[in-house]
Amino acid sequence: MIVEIKNLSKSYTQVHQQTIVLEDVDFDISKGDFISIVGPSGSGKSTLLNLVGILDDCYSGSIKLFGHSLLSLSDNEKSIMRVKNIGFVFQFDSLLEEFTVIENIDMPARILGKPDIKYSMSLLEKFNLEDIAQKFPMEISGGEKQRAAILRALRNCPALVIADEPTGNLDKYNSKLVLDDLKSISLEGSSVLMVTHNEEAAKYGNKIYHLANGKLVRQQGTI
Ligand SMILES: Nc1ncnc2c1ncn2[C@@H]1O[C@H](COP(=O)(O)OP(=O)(O)O)[C@@H](O)[C@H]1O
Ligand SMILES: [Mg+2]
Repeated sequence: MIVEIKNLSKSYTQVHQQTIVLEDVDFDISKGDFISIVGPSGSGKSTLLNLVGILDDCYSGSIKLFGHSLLSLSDNEKSIMRVKNIGFVFQFDSLLEEFTVIENIDMPARILGKPDIKYSMSLLEKFNLEDIAQKFPMEISGGEKQRAAILRALRNCPALVIADEPTGNLDKYNSKLVLDDLKSISLEGSSVLMVTHNEEAAKYGNKIYHLANGKLVRQQGTI
């Protein structure tokens, strides 16, 4: 199992009140799953992704990634797990402006001390994006930026790709390209966890969940 979440709860405490954002959330992700979680703005989608992506350590319940309970891992082990096994895609592309697209895509490998521009180029070719390899982020479209961000997330061959509203900023045409990319990633065996407020985008998942009022509910009829 790639991800096993049990009784996950999370609340934010501010001066005068406690807000419960997630309440007893349970779900699993298997190899090759494309899980989509749909919910309105403020329903806790990013909060949930940050927990699964080991970007936030403050929760109750159990999170197991790749067979390891996060509670049993040191900070260093968690960092290594994150860099090697999880790729992130955010709503607003986070490409580094001073690097070309191909340099951006190779960056996660460079961080591990294993740069390989040739491999990064092969990823671009596989997704028919080789024409933008040498361009800078400011020279490409919003859709191309998101697709490049997906390839960067894929660079270290992660078992899990986490996407937070990856099409939130895109028109229909570019949304479809991005969602097709994510679908093909899952068909090749990496797992995808996507959150979105868009019901149409959520349909790309093989399992669809709804998040509202802290509760995560599986949509029936999805396989
Ligand atoms: N760091 C924080 N401190 C306090 N409240 C927060 C914090 N981050 C998020 N929230 C609150 O938690 C709720 C869920 O936020 P979020 O996970 O960002 O929702 P979504 O991604 O679905 O729009 C919102 O009510 C938001 O205001
Ligand atoms: Mg969000």
